[in-house]
Amino acid sequence: MISREESISAKPFVKWVGGKTQLLNEIKNTLPNHFGQKQITYIEPFVGGGAVLFWILQQYPNIERAVINDINQELICTYNEIKNNVESLIAELFKIQSAYIGLTEESRKDFYLSKRSLFNSKHISPIETAALFIFLNKTCFNGLYRVNSKGEFNVPHGKYKNPRICDEDNLIAVSRILQRVDIICGDFAKTKCFAGPYSLYYIDPPYKPLTATSSFTSYAKGGFDDNEQIRLRDFCNDISKKGALFIASNSDPKNIDPKETFFDTIYNKFMIKRVSASRMINSDASGRGSISELMISNVISI
Ligand SMILES: C[S@@+](CC[C@H](N)C(=O)[O-])C[C@H]1O[C@@H](n2cnc3c(N)ncnc32)[C@H](O)[C@@H]1O
Repeated sequence: MISREESISAKPFVKWVGGKTQLLNEIKNTLPNHFGQKQITYIEPFVGGGAVLFWILQQYPNIERAVINDINQELICTYNEIKNNVESLIAELFKIQSAYIGLTEESRKDFYLSKRSLFNSKHISPIETAALFIFLNKTCFNGLYRVNSKGEFNVPHGKYKNPRICDEDNLIAVSRILQRVDIICGDFAKTKCFAGPYSLYYIDPPYKPLTATSSFTSYAKGGFDDNEQIRLRDFCNDISKKGALFIASNSDPKNIDPKETFFDTIYNKFMIKRVSASRMINSDASGRGSISELMISNVISI
């Protein structure tokens, strides 16, 4: 008999800018025809909120192993705590939720700011880091994750009436899925060693900003400029030579300037598909619209 937890599908436990839920169908259409039949390793070097990870692991039981990585230490700490310590994490989140929900708007803001300082102090245990990471994500402005040059999380308080800080069922479902996932923290290059003939990479780096002002400031201190995009292209060449398949997403500079060929040039050895996505184009909320995004791959479907 299927238990209650097993019947619940796992979905991202945080909101993350650039989430890929709306592109899952396009990713599915790009996968090779035999994909569901072979035992393979799935690797995500920039996992973020994990929308593709949770979808692919539930859709394809033939993925016998997965490896995820991200440079964000607190995010990776949270994945680890969900994997190894989910009951304590849920208890911690319920405590925070009941303290926060009963407060007035003004006191909620003070509560949020004090938890944000505690989070930035880094003098907290992994379980507290994970609980605060989820709490801040669910109550901050637009679920953004942005850090200043000192690496401190600096997003202001958001205004949600009744945020779901502890989604117990989903955390348990995520924990179950993560049992078949190896979790590492660092630069994407660390995942090169997993490339081989039976591996698939889904690569979702910070996007190249379309305009100087659209640049959503960093997920991590240091940022991701054109040299980083080229270093990532070199990584794609290397894993491709080792026999791995990859699918990579990025912004399409042609939305702004039809003559701009940055990605067409650097990825000229690979396939580039243009797909449509609904994204925030300007920093103000009115700028949401449908724009083209790139899906770059070395997958040849026959
Ligand atoms: C576009 S987000 C990924 C979105 C995610 N796939 C989703 O669906 O929600 C990019 C991620 O890359 C991470 N990152 C930035 N620079 C990195 C680097 N050099 N190596 C690994 N991860 C990096 C950021 O912390 C961020 O989580």
